[in-house]
Amino acid sequence: MGQTRRHFVKTSAKASGAFGILGSLGPIACGPVDGGGKPSGYSSESKRILILGGTRFIGPHQVKYALDRGHEVSIFTRGRTRPPFYHDYFDRVEHLVGDRNNDLTALENGEWDAVIDNSASIPRWVRESAGLLANRADRYLYVSSISAYATYSEVGMTENAPLAQLEDPTTEDDTGATYGGRKALCEQAAQEAFGEDAIIVRPGLIVGPGDNTDRWTYWPIRIDQGGEVLAPNSPSDPVQNIDARDLSEWMIRLVEEPGHGGTYNATGPAQPATFGEMLEGVRIALDSDATFTWVSTKFMSEHGIRPWSHMTNWRPAEGQEIGLLQVSVSAAIQHGLTFRPLSDTARDTLAWWNTLSEERRAEPQAGLPAELEAQVLAAWRSSA
Ligand SMILES: NC(=O)c1ccc[n+]([C@@H]2O[C@H](COP(=O)([O-])OP(=O)(O)OC[C@H]3O[C@@H](n4cnc5c(N)ncnc54)[C@H](OP(=O)(O)O)[C@@H]3O)[C@@H](O)[C@H]2O)c1
Repeated sequence: MGQTRRHFVKTSAKASGAFGILGSLGPIACGPVDGGGKPSGYSSESKRILILGGTRFIGPHQVKYALDRGHEVSIFTRGRTRPPFYHDYFDRVEHLVGDRNNDLTALENGEWDAVIDNSASIPRWVRESAGLLANRADRYLYVSSISAYATYSEVGMTENAPLAQLEDPTTEDDTGATYGGRKALCEQAAQEAFGEDAIIVRPGLIVGPGDNTDRWTYWPIRIDQGGEVLAPNSPSDPVQNIDARDLSEWMIRLVEEPGHGGTYNATGPAQPATFGEMLEGVRIALDSDATFTWVSTKFMSEHGIRPWSHMTNWRPAEGQEIGLLQVSVSAAIQHGLTFRPLSDTARDTLAWWNTLSEERRAEPQAGLPAELEAQVLAAWRSSA
């Protein structure tokens, strides 16, 4: 169904004032929004935004920012995951309960200006929800991933690089091996239903307060502890990542108005950055006495240190992966993506981590265990 029909349905629904349990918040002139990332003085008409997901990591940041900008927000989840923060905001959200696997009844009625699909990595889920909503929403933003690409054999890859392909396109196996191919097919399903009103966002590693994977969080935690820190390979290795708040806030701005249909790599910073600059930036932000010992890729591998899971946000920049942490972000920047300073991300991530329970902090999901770090640093010194 084309844009005209979707626009007509939206206008009619607005005129009838129908919006579930939320009253209209009316037009707004946006006041300041904390967390940064918003051009000052920006104002927009209140929009109705449906988030498929909303309660784990990027969702809460989207919810907060959208409500702060005066939008009306519905979220669709199974009702199992409790948002990690911003609890008061969720009292102001319409909560539709169902299951993308087999129960979309709660999505059968209602009209929205925009849908943001955070929670799908299975193409059928996008096909079903985007198909169901195509006549009742103007725009559909699908959260894909940099993982959707077939390879990273070039530096500065733009959005038209070849995508991963699955041997079995019907697979719903939730494994890392099929993740990229499934994300690529999810993108296609969103585009089939929404055409030029589909917005595909391919984030790189998402970092910052609320990250349930503890990946980038490892660096502020470790650097804050101080002392000799094992660092991967070389300070000149490339790095990219994006603060969840920069990403989430930009997504809300993208869906506020028409004209942003298309596909965007979404990572940062704006200019190429090195691992050395990142670790040193975190060190300065946290006023830490940490020093960095750069251990070669070969030595790490021989001593059981794994890229990404131990050395988080790092992989060897070579061969088919040379461009993994060096993709082009110019399209996203042209469409309004902004970046807060690394120092804010470092401080806020550590502050958030320190609010978690002692039990949770005792069991980080990623990063280099202290004993392994000490062992390999000692071996590296004696090999020198
Ligand atoms: N983390 C990264 O570095 C990274 C990088 C690139 C791309 N991405 C993509 O970014 C997105 C991240 O999403 P997020 O977790 O932060 O999103 P979110 O919107 O904060 O949370 C997703 C929510 O979806 C709900 N959900 C899960 N299964 C569901 C089902 N079967 N039916 C209905 N709802 C369901 C869960 O709530 P309930 O449990 O209550 O249902 C969950 O809280 C993903 O698409 C991921 O592939 C992540």
